[in-house]
Amino acid sequence: MTTPLWELVNICKAFPGVRANDGISIRLNAGEIHALLGENGCGKSTLIKILSGVHQPDNGEIRLNGVPLTLGSPIDARTKGVATVFQEFSLAPTLSVAENIFLGRYPRRGPFVDWARMQAEAERILASLEIRIDPRRLVGSLSVAEQQLVEIAKAISVEATLLILDEPTTALGAHEILVLHNLLRRMKSRGVAVLYISHRLDEVVELVDTATILKDGRVASTAEATRLDIPSIVTAMIGTSVDEHYPKEQNATNEVLIEVEGLWSAAGARGASFSVQRGEVFGLGGVIGSGRTEIARAVFGADKITGGRVRVAGRKLRLRSPRDAIAAGIALVPENRKFDGLFFNFNGGPNITSAAIGSIRRLFLLNKSEEARITTNYIRDLEISPAAATKFVNLLSGGNQQKIVIARWLFAQSQVLILDEPTQGIDIGAKIAVYRLINQLTARGCAVILISSDHAELIAMSDRIGIVRGGAVVETRPASQITHAHLVQASASAATAA
Ligand SMILES: Nc1ncnc2c1ncn2[C@@H]1O[C@H](COP(=O)(O)OP(=O)(O)OP(=O)(O)O)[C@@H](O)[C@H]1O
Ligand SMILES: [Mg+2]
Repeated sequence: MTTPLWELVNICKAFPGVRANDGISIRLNAGEIHALLGENGCGKSTLIKILSGVHQPDNGEIRLNGVPLTLGSPIDARTKGVATVFQEFSLAPTLSVAENIFLGRYPRRGPFVDWARMQAEAERILASLEIRIDPRRLVGSLSVAEQQLVEIAKAISVEATLLILDEPTTALGAHEILVLHNLLRRMKSRGVAVLYISHRLDEVVELVDTATILKDGRVASTAEATRLDIPSIVTAMIGTSVDEHYPKEQNATNEVLIEVEGLWSAAGARGASFSVQRGEVFGLGGVIGSGRTEIARAVFGADKITGGRVRVAGRKLRLRSPRDAIAAGIALVPENRKFDGLFFNFNGGPNITSAAIGSIRRLFLLNKSEEARITTNYIRDLEISPAAATKFVNLLSGGNQQKIVIARWLFAQSQVLILDEPTQGIDIGAKIAVYRLINQLTARGCAVILISSDHAELIAMSDRIGIVRGGAVVETRPASQITHAHLVQASASAATAA
């Protein structure tokens, strides 16, 4: 066998109570896009943190052109040619986009920072990604999708021989994903080795040349052995085959539960109207920036409402804050669980019970054993990692964090659930678990508002779909009459309208 460009040999890394990487060997060739796949918590991010100098392996070797080397720190790894887009963003919110891209290596003229050049360079990099963001803007003012694009821009701004992307598309829409894939193909033709992590398997089989599948910290299928079709990948990942990816049940009744009428918010809902029946899943389709999240946040009382009405079961609500929405039985599983969704310095228990804390309080004291019992039940029902009972949630894998947010709203007995990208970043098994949860909710008579950039999922799991543009629902149809092409078309007309 020829020597690969980069090679990992028998990498081991343990954390207290878990062998995150247990003897992993992978060969990464120049000019190849290599997928790293596996269920939540199987050790993908740990491995790429080792390759990026964030963690040191307990055992094993990293080789570049056959020569062993150490990657002592993130800066060390970067100078040795590894560029990484991390799953958790590493941007500084109080700095500008340009400053973030060049953090730690501002261009200089003599002893001074060359701001003009930094600006121009940042513009060039953003343009190559077709990103229309002013490099002078503060990162903290950007949407999640925009931040994700800046994170990618930052990684590709350094000359690299290995480009690693850990779920780079979770917050991106169809168009942004296309642009990113084209960029990766260009990197590939320049001889860069690309290591790509994603739970969107349709996207993976479309893009990559080869794949390694991990299971419980070990290699379950090597690059040579992995067949690049979804059923084979799923079987290698979870050990069994899946015949029903979208187990949709028809539970819609004709009783309207929530009515949104001409809703305006300071943040960007612009006259949104729609209603959702008990037992119905109402999908919101549209591009990034179309206003889907803003509509969701307004209905949840999270952004200031400037006009319009929301009624639940015929009763008009006064939505001054999420507290009012929660009291009316409305729940929001936010898109950005990192900032809005979880209390990171607590374990799973308080995270699950927080929205309905009153129900487990006894004479002002928190009933800890009750909390533990509830947590154990949700861990079992939603197949959450058992570690959630004891570990701080920031140490859990991304998918397990998502399940905990959903568990919270289930526990709070919500009637109207707004799920904003609920399967973002979770593995195929967990996705199907979320779909089943949606069925359970609708069977109980809940109304579900589903926002998803995964078109196949949105069409399969919704009863009706409203297409959102400019903060309003511009068209509503039964999901069965909506196609992928239709949703892409909606994006295209939005782009020309903008
Ligand atoms: N800093 C840490 N301290 C303790 N445990 C950790 C730490 N980082 C990761 N783990 C644990 O190591 C295991 C592997 O986690 P890792 O983040 O690598 O999974 P992953 O494959 O990236 O999952 P996902 O698809 O959900 O992102 C998990 O059990 C996780 O809880
Ligand atoms: Mg990960």
